[in-house]
Amino acid sequence: MKPIVLITGCSSGFGMLTALELAATCHVIATVRNKEKERDLFNHCSHQQLNIDIQYCDVTDPESIQKVAEHIETSYKRLDVLINNAGYGLGGYFEDLEDSEIRDLFNTNVFGLQRVTKAVLPLLRQSKSAKIINLSSIAGLTASPCISAYNASKWAVEGFSEALLFELLPFNIDVVLVEPGQFNTKIFSSNLRFAKGMKNPQSPYYSYSQKAMKKLNGMIQKGLADPKKVTQLIVKVVFKKKPKTRYLIGWDAYVRLYLRRLLPFEWYKKIVGALYLKLMHKS
Ligand SMILES: NC(=O)c1ccc[n+]([C@@H]2O[C@H](COP(=O)([O-])OP(=O)(O)OC[C@H]3O[C@@H](n4cnc5c(N)ncnc54)[C@H](OP(=O)(O)O)[C@@H]3O)[C@@H](O)[C@H]2O)c1
Repeated sequence: MKPIVLITGCSSGFGMLTALELAATCHVIATVRNKEKERDLFNHCSHQQLNIDIQYCDVTDPESIQKVAEHIETSYKRLDVLINNAGYGLGGYFEDLEDSEIRDLFNTNVFGLQRVTKAVLPLLRQSKSAKIINLSSIAGLTASPCISAYNASKWAVEGFSEALLFELLPFNIDVVLVEPGQFNTKIFSSNLRFAKGMKNPQSPYYSYSQKAMKKLNGMIQKGLADPKKVTQLIVKVVFKKKPKTRYLIGWDAYVRLYLRRLLPFEWYKKIVGALYLKLMHKS
C-alpha cells in the first residue's frame, strides 16, 4: 500500500524536489500557494511523467488549509505523512525589524505549520503508523546575529515539535525534525526577505547590515550545497520504521552544532562574539 504524503510549499526548493522524488513510491499531495505558483512543479511532473496531486494552500489562510484537508478526507480517507516544509527566511537586526515583519514570519513558519498540523491530525490518526516531518533548521538549534527573528521562529518549531512528539505517542504518530545547514534554494534568493529598516542609513546597525549582506553574498557566490541531499534524507525518513527525532544535514550544521554543544556556553560566546566583532570592524 503506497503511503499518502502531504507536503506544503512545493513551488520550489526542498518541497518541490521531495514531491518529485516521492512521486514514484507514494501518493503525493503537493501544495503550492496558488495557480501561478504551480507552473514549475507541473512542468516537472509532465516532463518526468509523474503523477502528483497538486492542491492550493497558503499556510497563513485557514480556509485553504481546510479545503486541502477535506480533499484528502474525500479522496484518500487517511494521511500517512505530513511534511511541514513551507517557510521563509528574514534577515535584519532586531531593532530594524518592524512588529509586522516578525508577526508575518511567525504566521508562516510557526503558526502556519501548527494550523496545517491541526487540520490533518484527524486524518493522520486514521493511519496505522503516521509521521509528521517538520523542516526546522540548524538555525533552530544555534543562533546568529542578523537573523534573530528567523532563529526565534525555528526555535519555536523545535519546542513545539518536541512537546507534540509526546502528545502524539498514544496515537502512534511520530514527529521528526529535519535540520539543514545552508542549501541552494530560493530561500537565499527570490524568497529571502529583509527588514525594511536595514536600508535606513540612520539605523545604528546600518554598517553592520551592509557587512552582513556582503558576507551573505560572498557565501552565495562560493556556492551553496545541493538541496537534493536534503530531499534524499527526507525520503529516507518517510520510509524509516523507527525514525530518530532529529536529523542534522550539511557540514556547516554539524560544525555549528558541535561547537555549540561541546563548548561551555561562556567559551562559545567568547569565540563567536570575538569572530563577529572582528568581522564587523573589518573595513
Ligand atoms: N535552504 C536552506 O538552506 C534551508 C536551511 C534550513 C531550513 N530550511 C527550511 O526549509 C524549508 C523550505 O525552504 P527552501 O529552502 O526549500 O526554500 P524555498 O525554495 O524558498 O521554498 C519555500 C517554499 O515555502 C513556500 N511558502 C512560503 N510561504 C508560504 C505560505 N504562507 N504558504 C504556503 N507556502 C509558503 C514557498 O512558496 P512561494 O513560492 O509561494 O513563496 C516555497 O514553495 C523552509 O521551512 C526553510 O526554513 C531551508
